[in-house]
Amino acid sequence: MIKKNLQYLLSLKKENILITSVTSYDASFAKLADDCGVDIILVGDSLGEVIKGAKNTHSVTVDDICYHTKSVSKGIKYAYLISDMPKHSFRTKRQALSNAIKITEKGLADMIKIESTPKQLDIVKHLINNNIEVCGHIGIQPQNINKKSYRKIGITTRECKSLTRHALMLQDSGVKLIVAECIDKRCAEKISNILKIPLIGIGSGSKCDGQIRVIYDIFNISFNGKPGFLKDQESQKNPLKDILIGYLKSMKNNIN
Ligand code: KIV
Repeated sequence: MIKKNLQYLLSLKKENILITSVTSYDASFAKLADDCGVDIILVGDSLGEVIKGAKNTHSVTVDDICYHTKSVSKGIKYAYLISDMPKHSFRTKRQALSNAIKITEKGLADMIKIESTPKQLDIVKHLINNNIEVCGHIGIQPQNINKKSYRKIGITTRECKSLTRHALMLQDSGVKLIVAECIDKRCAEKISNILKIPLIGIGSGSKCDGQIRVIYDIFNISFNGKPGFLKDQESQKNPLKDILIGYLKSMKNNIN
């Protein structure tokens, strides 16, 4: 097998094969996901919550992302590696480019993901013109809201039209992947049908080209609890806890 690239991910969309993606923040979980055949690993700024124990992603720094990306890159043989641009790391074109270079060159990410608004398209274009591969992020952008205002968006025709416009603007600027967070499933399906590039959903229904999950949510060990949109069967079991309890019991039984 060879390392997965953008051409491969695009071929999955064309062939209607689901693109799989999880977050990772360290070499061991990255290796686990890679060994299991995941297509994309994201060093998400969700690390603010699941690693640093904060209430949201807002305190994550470029140095945090570089540190975790370097660790994750050591665990990967085949998966495509994307890292988040944290909040406040792309206020100007110059700042965005210098931080994206740090994350891709020092951290070794293949691509950066950016929670840009439609007004920040010039920043996205500047990165692409300087040979940075970019993943967009539409729908709920956790960097731009607080957790209490999480809600499904794109239910009304007006909102869905504006999300579609945002996605098309990103695609026309040269973005190669887009993450869709907490978008109404009908709207997400419509966007994924219109786009030529893959749409990777989280909390956006099953009709996106790919799905992404925070890896600790899959094991049900996320510090701030599981997000409401995870289906029950996806999130009720706690296999790591069961393994640890079993191990602790056997340790006690073996002490003489
Ligand atoms: O930071 C993150 O983990 C993300 C995913 C929720 C898509 O952006």
